[in-house]
Amino acid sequence: MGLVKAVRCPRCEAPAAGDNAGVCSHCGTVVDLVMDLTSVPSLAEIRRRAERSIWKWRELLPIQEPAAIVSLGEGYTPLIEARRLGERLGIPRLYVKNDGLLPTGSLKDRVNALAVSRGREMKVPLVATPSTGNAAASLAAYAAAGGLACIVLVPEGTAPAKVAQARICGARVVAVRGAFDTVAALARQAIERFGWYSALSDNPWRNAGHKSYGYEVLDQLGEVPDWMIHPEASGGAVAGTWKAFGEMQELGWVRRKPRMVAAQAEAAAPLVRAWEKGLTDVEPVTPGPTVAEAIKVGQSRLGWQCLAALRDAGGTAVAVADDEILEAQRLLAALEGVFAEPAGAVSIAAARRLSQSGAIGPKESVVAVVTGHGLKQLVEHRLSEIPTIEPTLEALEQAIKGGAPCP
Ligand SMILES: Cc1ncc(COP(=O)(O)O)c(C=O)c1O
Ligand SMILES: [Zn+2]
Repeated sequence: MGLVKAVRCPRCEAPAAGDNAGVCSHCGTVVDLVMDLTSVPSLAEIRRRAERSIWKWRELLPIQEPAAIVSLGEGYTPLIEARRLGERLGIPRLYVKNDGLLPTGSLKDRVNALAVSRGREMKVPLVATPSTGNAAASLAAYAAAGGLACIVLVPEGTAPAKVAQARICGARVVAVRGAFDTVAALARQAIERFGWYSALSDNPWRNAGHKSYGYEVLDQLGEVPDWMIHPEASGGAVAGTWKAFGEMQELGWVRRKPRMVAAQAEAAAPLVRAWEKGLTDVEPVTPGPTVAEAIKVGQSRLGWQCLAALRDAGGTAVAVADDEILEAQRLLAALEGVFAEPAGAVSIAAARRLSQSGAIGPKESVVAVVTGHGLKQLVEHRLSEIPTIEPTLEALEQAIKGGAPCP
């Protein structure tokens, strides 16, 4: 089990006030867990383990009590060699990390496995979070498996499939009028007032789950990719992956690190705007409508960490338009058989942009993380009428005239 050596602010380096502090009392930045790496086994030893979940790397995850761990088998999602899509995008060495196949269908299982395990370690009765939908579904599942109560707040109009997932697991789901940032502000007040255990992105134990991307990609690919692209809202996936590569470098496991990319929808791109302005922290924006509902946010709680990671990595932040997102979603399905929700395909749209602009070269390896399953949020116009026929061969022949459309 992983030992936490220090809890400190990554920005002003101050030690955190108290062992369970999530946020620096000086500057408000989410604090960082510095792991004790001295008792981590060798890379070869860990890679030999048969386990296929994030807990294969348990010495690097900040849970000390094995009995507290709640696992639904999260991690080790397929890393697909996406030859057909890669050829189309001009990236012959494109790999798709399909996190739509995590237990509840989104990347959130990586962090909520940690949030609930930590909550059990602390013997809390209840966990809570605001969510654009996926975190709600995920937290509800882990809370159910861990025997904790769960309250989730979602924006009114959240995809029904995600709400259904959370409810069937027994969570108390409350829809709030307003966009995600309003819901998150209310949730923070409630967490403070009612003493709920927070599974928000200002819980550093939760955030450690994002590190699993780094360990897993090295294990599955057998080398460090040149680029890693994540669809982003809080900035946590980029920050966590980058941290994992930093730890692996410290351990002498890797000599170089990937260039990191944070991908957002144009209508909700606080990280990209801050990156373009050369800022070190995110300024809130007012999000507009976008098909990428899961990442429709105006503020990025881990923006400071994410922007620092992008700078250190020689990476970038890319905003893509809705038509690019929908085209990426279609190409990913039509050429690779992977059905992603729109937000999940934002990494593919960003890869396409970066290839077109020449930022990604044709010899470079790229891991694009696809973060949510397509069945989570169905896009209306994709549900348009299919031919319905009488059960005769003539009618069938008529219906399939012209063959299947070519991707
Ligand atoms: C499908 C999907 N992709 C990406 C993200 C972004 O995750 P993060 O908040 O860690 O940046 C979310 C967040 O809800 C999501 O649901
Ligand atoms: Zn600070």
